[in-house]
Amino acid sequence: MKKTTTIMLFMLSLFASAQQQSIDQKVNDLLKKMTIEEKIGQLNQYTGDNQATGPITINPNKQNEIKQGLIGSMLNVIGTKYTRGYQELAMQSRLKIPLLFGQDVIHGYKMTFPLPLAEAASWDLAAIELGARVAATEAAASGIHWTFAPMVDIGRDPRWGRVMEGAGEDTYLGSKIAYARVKGFQGNKLGDLNSVMACVKHFAAYGAGVGGRDYNSVDMSERMLWETYLPPFKAALDAGAATFMNSFNDINGIPATGNAHLQRDILKEKWNFQGFVVSDWGSIGEMVAHGYSKDLKEAAYSAITAGSDMDMESNAYRKHLAELVKEGRVSIDLIDDAVKRILRKKFELGLFDDPYRYSDEKRAEKALNNPEHRKAAREMAEKSIVLLKNENQTLPISKNAKTIAFIGPMVKEYKENMGFWSVELPEVDYNKWIVSQWDGLQNKVGKNTKLLYAKGCEIEGTNKDGFAEAVETAKQADVVILSIGERRDMSGEAKSRSDLHLPGVQEDLVKAVMATGKPVVVLINAGRPLVFNWTADNVPAILYTWWLGTEAGNAIANVLFGDYNPSGKLPMTFPREVGQIPIYYNHFSTGRPAKDENATNYVSAYIDLKNSPKYPFGYGLSYTTFDYSGLKLSSTKIKSNETIKVSFQLKNTGKVAGEEVAQLYLKDKFGSVVRPVLELRDFQKVKLNAGESKTIEFTIDKEKLSFYNDKVEWVAEPGDFEVMIGTSSADIKLKSDFELVN
Ligand code: GLC
Repeated sequence: MKKTTTIMLFMLSLFASAQQQSIDQKVNDLLKKMTIEEKIGQLNQYTGDNQATGPITINPNKQNEIKQGLIGSMLNVIGTKYTRGYQELAMQSRLKIPLLFGQDVIHGYKMTFPLPLAEAASWDLAAIELGARVAATEAAASGIHWTFAPMVDIGRDPRWGRVMEGAGEDTYLGSKIAYARVKGFQGNKLGDLNSVMACVKHFAAYGAGVGGRDYNSVDMSERMLWETYLPPFKAALDAGAATFMNSFNDINGIPATGNAHLQRDILKEKWNFQGFVVSDWGSIGEMVAHGYSKDLKEAAYSAITAGSDMDMESNAYRKHLAELVKEGRVSIDLIDDAVKRILRKKFELGLFDDPYRYSDEKRAEKALNNPEHRKAAREMAEKSIVLLKNENQTLPISKNAKTIAFIGPMVKEYKENMGFWSVELPEVDYNKWIVSQWDGLQNKVGKNTKLLYAKGCEIEGTNKDGFAEAVETAKQADVVILSIGERRDMSGEAKSRSDLHLPGVQEDLVKAVMATGKPVVVLINAGRPLVFNWTADNVPAILYTWWLGTEAGNAIANVLFGDYNPSGKLPMTFPREVGQIPIYYNHFSTGRPAKDENATNYVSAYIDLKNSPKYPFGYGLSYTTFDYSGLKLSSTKIKSNETIKVSFQLKNTGKVAGEEVAQLYLKDKFGSVVRPVLELRDFQKVKLNAGESKTIEFTIDKEKLSFYNDKVEWVAEPGDFEVMIGTSSADIKLKSDFELVN
């Protein structure tokens, strides 16, 4: 049997390489026929008119340029009708090179999933991959070949609105999620009709902008770049990512778009990336605003020489590349390399065989109304919810509750549940497609339960006129649910906030409702960690519900009534105040570490605030309880080519089934560079019935002990280590020591 499998695998690999050779041959043959204008056309991408995702420059000549083969790709062209229409124009060009259609399918296409940061809170890699799979299936059925996702930027600063789009602050978790998302988007093979090309973004370190201000400068050591910010990109590449997108920020003084160290040294040479790099919206032209390029022509020169293959929306390549080649400043080889990278993908997608193969109305109709997609979205939403607090067994709410008051500005919203970076299809009535939080509760409660509603206030503004009605409504109820938070366009691109408190008078509404003395549950809807200290300290039950997408209402109702036991764990640290930022769990010790959260005397701390976060990375509660015991190490001394088996018992000591994310943290007690106080190095999400116990095992190997030294070499140094098993980064249940010897 084994022999047959080996032969099969060998035959498959032969077939794949033969296929690749034939594609390379086709690319080379086509390239020979292309004029320089047609070659540069392939490097040129324009936006369509279905959704604006950047500062649009109107180009009335777009359709003619497509017919002349001067545009190779478009974005924001949504739906089979429109993509087919533009493709028909491309088929009138001399060489009939098909257009590539890209779209920000970030967390769902028609079926909207929880925003990526919320999905990260599920720590459920299979569910995250499935979400990307569903998105790809729907997008690919609607004419889209290419999604500008996953965004894999490490986000340690919640003032940055785009933390909603990534996987949070941790490099290990972020790398695992990056891998899962690429696998989900690209499926088994590019060219399958339910797969789209992934685009790993934003290369690189976009999330480290000074002050959490979007598009802002980044300055960091090469070591920090490699240790913290690059690994999720490499994980995505290892998953087979077809494309990369560079980033708006300058990094160490050079804009990423013109950064040959990033795009050539690291991506195309060291990592041997064979796909292509697309610039971010206008980022080539923005090198003039950066003060890096004198004008658009110099920007084109810097970008193409630095390895930026396709120009999104800046027109730099279309206007200046031919001239630069004629002047001998840019070699035609550079152009050819970029063109070949792009043509290869168009062949792999099968677009030369059938340019319309993704624009199939019938397939779209089926794919966009698949009940399995709705189920996947609901389950992902349930898993993304984080239970922050639950005192006096306020949750789950009894299904026999006579009267429930559902109060707040989010309760009856529809599109707000989609969050930022959701795809809005013109033909969809989202008030029917989305399950609002109010709908969800109505779907859930029986006929003996009375539901009361009051808006209370708006998300923003100072108007408290609705408070009286809200308080009166609360007084009539057995239990009150408050749904508050950010508007969906308060987190996302160009949505940095200097103040992370709950907007408007929402926390005053919480106080007014709490004053009734009723049991209160607060739902916080947001795209980032917010600051809500009074609520956190005074309300007995709090669920962080992010923005959960199409099935938000049903998922929230299932959690509120215990039909799903919340299992989410925070992928980002929640600060007590903005003044603590940046605050993240895997920080260095410093020479004067604060021994506890109240220490201030000559230690690294604030004198006006506790040293701990409001909620730590990896934190999340359950309706049940878990006990960790019996930590065992297969050895306490290993060589670098050996491993340690770590095992312990995890028991569900409560009354209901639940899922726990057991987290493995390591601490390298001393190193040739200072090392984080602890680092996530593995995790397992485990479902246990009430009373059930299970042996959990992790393996520690050299990879888990390694880091980048001051020469930026990936090394594991002999020395003492601590292994910790925690239910969060700040709640370690079991620990032990071991030594790595030469
Ligand atoms: C935006 C974003 C990028 C997105 C692109 C196309 O400005 O930075 O993430 O993919 O433009 O919409």
